[in-house]
Amino acid sequence: MRRFPAEFSELLKPRAVRHGGGPFFAASDLVDPATAAAAFALLERHLAPALKPLVRAIPPETITNQTRNYQERLPKTVRNRAADIDGTRSKAAKLAARIGLGEMLSSPSYLAFAEKLAGRKLDPAFGRQVLRYGPGDYAGPHTDHHPEEPRARDGYFDLHLSFSNAAAARQLLVYAQAGHLDRAVDVAGTATIAAYRLPFWHYTTPLEGKPDAARWVVLGTFLYA
Ligand SMILES: [Fe+2]
Repeated sequence: MRRFPAEFSELLKPRAVRHGGGPFFAASDLVDPATAAAAFALLERHLAPALKPLVRAIPPETITNQTRNYQERLPKTVRNRAADIDGTRSKAAKLAARIGLGEMLSSPSYLAFAEKLAGRKLDPAFGRQVLRYGPGDYAGPHTDHHPEEPRARDGYFDLHLSFSNAAAARQLLVYAQAGHLDRAVDVAGTATIAAYRLPFWHYTTPLEGKPDAARWVVLGTFLYA
């Protein structure tokens, strides 16, 4: 595979998809393993140079300024590499266009697939981003709630296409369904497609595996139409 297919549906194996009742859905059997490996290789070869570190460590004041027992509050912590691929002007967007990723994300079947998982119509103008997790990279507990944005305050929808290499052994997406962070899905398979009805509490555990382990995520962030 020299480029991503023009239509997102061509990336998938033929199969109907239905989203269960919860806030989070993941499937690891929708993309042929050879196609998934080719997608990983395209991202690794062409988009890695456009990524920038996305690092927010634990502020020490969360402990040193604490005056009462059990007072701790953890802001969103994260460590990975990321790039916005919105539009056509940025270096990352140009590289995404060169490998066909921009065109595939703009294809009617990608929006249709997202709408099927979301269970409702989505705004066709949506945000695009790529992330790369290396060994130990993670995202701490957070909600992705954006109450200051009128169109997102009642919720929005994320679609994540995830491609990992064989060196990646495990990375759990842990999420809350009924008030407890007691659900977990391994998202470090060769290809995992995950749908999020945000906001809800979730976190991503440190990527486990060999020193060259990597997991790419192609994110679409959709407002409801
Ligand atoms: Fe998140």
